[in-house]
Amino acid sequence: MSNYHIKHLEEYYQVYRQSVQKPELFWEEIAEEHFVWRKKWDRILSWDFSKPEVKWFEGAKLNITENCIDRHLHVRGDKTAIIFEPNNPDEGAQHISYKELHQNVCKFANVLYDKGIKKGDRVCIYLPMIPELAYAVLACARIGAVHSVVFAGFSSTALATRINDCDAKMVITSDGSFRGAKTIDLKGIVDEALEDCNGVDSVLVAKRIHSDIVMKDGRDHWLQPLLDDAYNEFTAVIMDAEDPLFILYTSGSTGKPKGMVHSCAGYMVYSAYTFKNVFQYKEEDVYWCTADIGWITGHSYIVYGPLANGATTVMFEGVPSYPDFGRFWQIVEKHKVNQFYTAPTAIRALAKEGLEVVEPYDLSSLKVLGTVGEPINEEAWHWYNDNIGKKKSPIVDTWWQTETGGIMISPIPFSTPTKPTYATLPLPGIQPALMDGEGNEISGNQVSGRLCIKFPWPSMARTIWGNHQRYKDTYFSAFKNMYFTGDGALRDEVGYYRITGRVDDVIIVSGHNLGTAPIEDAINEHPAVAESAIVGFPHDIKGNALYGYVTLKDVGESRNHDNLRKEINQLITERIGPIAKLEKIQFTLGLPKTRSGKIMRRILRKIAHNEVSNLGDTSTLLNPEVVQNIIDNAL
Ligand code: WT7
Repeated sequence: MSNYHIKHLEEYYQVYRQSVQKPELFWEEIAEEHFVWRKKWDRILSWDFSKPEVKWFEGAKLNITENCIDRHLHVRGDKTAIIFEPNNPDEGAQHISYKELHQNVCKFANVLYDKGIKKGDRVCIYLPMIPELAYAVLACARIGAVHSVVFAGFSSTALATRINDCDAKMVITSDGSFRGAKTIDLKGIVDEALEDCNGVDSVLVAKRIHSDIVMKDGRDHWLQPLLDDAYNEFTAVIMDAEDPLFILYTSGSTGKPKGMVHSCAGYMVYSAYTFKNVFQYKEEDVYWCTADIGWITGHSYIVYGPLANGATTVMFEGVPSYPDFGRFWQIVEKHKVNQFYTAPTAIRALAKEGLEVVEPYDLSSLKVLGTVGEPINEEAWHWYNDNIGKKKSPIVDTWWQTETGGIMISPIPFSTPTKPTYATLPLPGIQPALMDGEGNEISGNQVSGRLCIKFPWPSMARTIWGNHQRYKDTYFSAFKNMYFTGDGALRDEVGYYRITGRVDDVIIVSGHNLGTAPIEDAINEHPAVAESAIVGFPHDIKGNALYGYVTLKDVGESRNHDNLRKEINQLITERIGPIAKLEKIQFTLGLPKTRSGKIMRRILRKIAHNEVSNLGDTSTLLNPEVVQNIIDNAL
């Protein structure tokens, strides 16, 4: 069916029009033809953004694992579902077929059942990127338990907050994890977290690093012996379309993390549909997303989306720099990866290492390259396009959020002509709107505003766990009858969208609205610059002025820093205008980042405001050590 798999630009426009004119019919056809249901829906969609309440495929009954696993068994049972690539390349990869996946997930579901987990219970998963993580996620889905995966890089405090917020009964973890040359004591972190969690009765522990750990009697159980004894069939529990499938926490700009709740049916349909189209996946392809399953990218585009399409999906345990900076490209060559999906921060880090670590590898299998997570700067886009895609593989700059469940704005490769730094066009079913400060929709092209979505799509989060009011306040209150994304965007002359950054990062200088991304882009074009971040700070005359934190490629750069400052401002003047010139430029050893790679501007803002005594929570930083150095050298 053509509306499931778009192959050229006219088809995109035609399918898009249908999807907007008759959204119910559009999604019904896709749901009908590409998924297995225990019972079909009574109603496709009901919605009211003022409550807000959204229901898709109401009355339908299904289990997502029957779509991701069982239905493939007779057509591609021996096909590899998951390629597990371990941290250490010498360990060798594992190829897990759909049949093996089925057995492992069924066994795991039996273990959960024996430990008293029932439909609707919450299970917290705190595991490294090992096959057990995929099995655990799918076993929860099979039994109808709501999984809450917490990225295994979060601290014990962050873990405890998330366990308590959703009242998880069980935690699934491992003795530890490998991360490059290091090991991390995950079980120790779980033990610490559980001192503050009363609701957890059992902990399942996978063995990964074979470290000496303490098992608490009655609470902790080694996973493997339980799996060995478990039966390898488990009848999937039948779920209602709108039953929660999982909770995934995302940080808000203030307050505690928000547990975004995703539903069974809508999430399945949308993650599968977007996977197929955005990556143009074909039956024999090998697809690799470098994210961690602890983020929404991993949920939708390592596990659910690919498996619902019967794809082969790579799960990589390690880091891009181990044993050396060629690791990603070595994996692409080794598994002949066809679609490769990563983040701008990884691209910049790898670009910094030069081409010597790219050139030894055969990247000719690549057909589509993807990026996600933050606006990609022009220089990184070109580096990726020229050196990895060899100008042959389209780059899909995919804009979406934990809350949206799936990709919202993105080129469709081989259909949508790409444009550096532009996420381009909305996917079928997605109706973006740009809003002005007075709450009016801005029509026409060559405009910019706040990015909203004006019509429901199947995989939108349905609520914040335990706090529907906060869901309403955060997403549905800024603009009437609109989902507000928190991002700013511009729409160019042909209707392409460029995401300019969080609107909370917008800085008003002398009455001009400046997005952080375009300015950082300009700075990063300077050949000596590796990365940069800008924030505003109070200025007597301009209201705000700009403070730039700049990391050089060569930290020991011998050129006069004042000359470099001039050159950077010259570039900004050329690209954006003198209004965007930086008042202060501080050269840094690194920028504080979250574990998902986002620059923590909040901290940089405080430093620029000279409010260093109260930096707030820095426990989720990947590199807390850079902060003191930035404070010490603040201008
Ligand atoms: C925020 C959502 C969705 C998976 C990873 C992040 C920013 C995401 C892009 C992109 C520009 C992007 C937005 C968005 N973002 N993708 N292609 N171009 N910005 O999920 O942690 O929920 O973050 O990431 O600001 O709102 P998340």
